[in-house]
Amino acid sequence: MSTSETYNYKVVRQFAVVTVIWGVVGMLVGVLIAAQLAFPALNFDTPWLSFGRLRPLHTNAVIFAFGGSALFATSYYVVQRTCHARLFGGPLAAVTFWGWQLIIVLAVITLPLGYTASKEYAELEWPIDILITIVWVLYAIVFFGTIGKRKVKHIYVANWFFGAYILTIAILHIFNSLAIPASMTKSYSVYAGVQDAMVQWWYGHNAVGFFLTAGFLGIMYYFIPKQAERPVYSYRLSVVHFWALIFTYIWAGPHHLHYSALPEWTQSIGMVFSLVLLAPSWGGMINGIMTLSGAWEKLRTDPILKFLVVSVSFYGMSTFEGPMMSIKTVNALSHYTDWTIGHVHSGALGWVGMVTIGAIYFLIPPLFGKRELYSTRLVDAHFWLATIGIVLYITAMWISGVMQGLMWRAVNPDGTLTYSFIESVQAMHPYYLIRLSGGLIYLTGMLLMAYNVFRTIAGAREADTTIPAPAHAA
Ligand code: HEM
Ligand code: HEM
Repeated sequence: MSTSETYNYKVVRQFAVVTVIWGVVGMLVGVLIAAQLAFPALNFDTPWLSFGRLRPLHTNAVIFAFGGSALFATSYYVVQRTCHARLFGGPLAAVTFWGWQLIIVLAVITLPLGYTASKEYAELEWPIDILITIVWVLYAIVFFGTIGKRKVKHIYVANWFFGAYILTIAILHIFNSLAIPASMTKSYSVYAGVQDAMVQWWYGHNAVGFFLTAGFLGIMYYFIPKQAERPVYSYRLSVVHFWALIFTYIWAGPHHLHYSALPEWTQSIGMVFSLVLLAPSWGGMINGIMTLSGAWEKLRTDPILKFLVVSVSFYGMSTFEGPMMSIKTVNALSHYTDWTIGHVHSGALGWVGMVTIGAIYFLIPPLFGKRELYSTRLVDAHFWLATIGIVLYITAMWISGVMQGLMWRAVNPDGTLTYSFIESVQAMHPYYLIRLSGGLIYLTGMLLMAYNVFRTIAGAREADTTIPAPAHAA
């Protein structure tokens, strides 16, 4: 029996392809809102094209459509390969695919129309929230059901990370979204005041910790060893940093609410746990990078490995920066400024984006019965475009962020403010242009990827689809 008959690759193929499509869409909207910040006329005085509505569209598209589809694709692939079992639940996996796409389409319609629950990264209104819950529970059934019927005793570490992300996101989503509906398109959170803020950032921070981190660590733990053809550097370290990471992340949310009405001691707990978080985060980074020991020369010739390894470097960088920003005195400067935006995108474009891109390039040929991609040179070009795009984006945001912070707090000897707000806005303009160009360059790389993936798949139709197993798959 061929491998493609044994495993459910169809759903993996579907999620892998939409990852690329939603990546292009989400980043296109990112470029548009970056342009709007530089040139406000681009809001066109049209409500559904305005920054306030397109910004949540961008975040939802890149995190949940692009990142989410990548996580579905990779977790479904990895759990099957490492458990030697077909996905559990028959048609349930297909239901999760179409359900997730429906949710994305509903987001694309409702967010520009201005329907929002007003919670960051949880803007979608209650009927869509219920749909998310249903799809997510089915996802959990498929994933854990597959683990349950595994033919290998051991549960590979990548599955631990995928499992933690699936479970925790279910809990976070359900509790943060609890609301009383007023109509089909409007609801009010069951929480109020400071409790609402606390629950929101418990959710928000752990969306970063479990969606944008734990899930993608699952990707790292499978795809780096595969592509490098080396075992994980330290299995013991992977287990230690798994438990340390998931224990610590849950407490760090209040660093988003420094100097707010939140009790002082909760802010301090948030800060301390964020500082502690540096250790497990770097444990993961070291494990990822050191997996290459003895295989460094591959980095010269293998652009997929370059994507994967540079992503881990960005992970290390943003998980160093994050704990620093959570120190209250540093946060007093960085909060509300573009420094946060720079931090977000070194994690988002550098870590999440690059590890996803590397994994999808890895997956496309075996999923479509090809031995290799249409063009490795295009992958290399993509790598350099992505790297240059990120560097331009985050350095511009660091400079403008620190400048904003310093301009806002500057006072004259008589106690009056040295700069008016509009002067700080004017000072940002050149950096917004640099960020826009960085974003455009990153997006160009994604378009190369879309072309390369399309050509690979188109070629696959003529290819011999009876290839029993991809040469480099488990
Ligand atoms: C071409 C690529 C991208 C461009 C040009 C871009 C641009 C932007 C812009 C202009 C903002 C609003 C900043 C502000 O309000 O001052 C933003 C916010 C955000 N973007 Fe992106 N983005 C890109 C890719 C991504 C990706 C791939 C992700 C995640 C995987 C991401 C996640 C976010 C998040 C989470 C925010 C909200 C940040 C916050 O509230 O602090 N972006 N992006
Ligand atoms: C040890 C790990 C990390 C710590 C301690 C940390 C800490 C922080 C801090 C202190 C802020 C600023 C809060 C504020 O002033 O409002 C922040 C914002 C943010 N970080 Fe991190 N960070 C970490 C890793 C990451 C990674 C790896 C990513 C992305 C993949 C990420 C994504 C974000 C996002 C999206 C925000 C903006 C939230 C918002 O205001 O909308 N962080 N982080």
